[in-house]
Amino acid sequence: MNFQWYPGHMTKAKRQMQEDIKLIDLVIELVDARIPLSSRNPDIDELGKNKYRLILMNKADLADKERTREWSAFFKEKGFFVVSLDARSKSGMKSITDIVMEACKEKIERDRKRGIKNRPVRAMVVGIPNVGKSTFINSYAGKACAKTGNKPGVTKGKQWIRLNKSVELLDTPGILWPKFEDQTVGLRLALIGSIKDEILNVDELAVELVKFLKAEYPGLLAQRYEVSEENDIIELIRAVAVNRKCLSKGGEPDYSKAAALIIDDFRSGKLGHITLERPEI
Ligand code: G4P
Repeated sequence: MNFQWYPGHMTKAKRQMQEDIKLIDLVIELVDARIPLSSRNPDIDELGKNKYRLILMNKADLADKERTREWSAFFKEKGFFVVSLDARSKSGMKSITDIVMEACKEKIERDRKRGIKNRPVRAMVVGIPNVGKSTFINSYAGKACAKTGNKPGVTKGKQWIRLNKSVELLDTPGILWPKFEDQTVGLRLALIGSIKDEILNVDELAVELVKFLKAEYPGLLAQRYEVSEENDIIELIRAVAVNRKCLSKGGEPDYSKAAALIIDDFRSGKLGHITLERPEI
């Protein structure tokens, strides 16, 4: 899913989130592990204040494991519970409930002291478009979980998914808008494929990616495309066109096709595990 946001969308999404957040104990915020900061909207910190907080660094299968560890430490330092994840795989899901319980243990203890038993923790999933919210909800909830439907006293129209006796999840995720007015953030969102390619200049995007890879992951491009990283960036992309037979109709090396290939290889993980930003410590 690609996104286009207008002020009207943002106001509506924010208002919806303000309403939904009143109903829950825990905010489960998904970020993209390749751009953990650029895929966040800091407004969630204001919207989610007084709530327990869990950050899921999703698409960790595509990210640099060392950086993911650094980001995990960074968020933990700020008081979040953190899990790195591939939401498409159901295997890591069992441990999520343990962390949800751990994150909400104050509330569970408070309820216990007041004699309230079996009141499940309520959570909602939030994040920018395409970060994997629906995939996560499907993997976490699975097919076996029946929706609880509308209950008396529960806001009309809200559906809760009962995950087990301890946790309920709001079935519709909250959508956050990214900070795309920031150029660097916009570039990173474009690189991971969150902004329509039709409105982007893919040639320029590839230049930025190659510049970054040469500096941060030296040797990677040379290895995959058998090109010299000593070349300047335009020459390097041309060399990829030649080596990978990205040709125009006339049989000439096609720079744009090579640019698109490099970007596709990055997005699909064929270039390796890459994270585009480091935490500032
Ligand atoms: P959203 O609700 O936040 O908008 O995101 P959604 O779940 O629709 O996921 C967006 C895309 O990201 C999907 O790919 C999904 O398969 C993929 N995805 C979600 N989680 C992960 C993950 O942990 N790792 C990887 N590598 N990909 C993930 P798609 O191409 O749009 O659809 P499809 O290929 O699954 O059909």
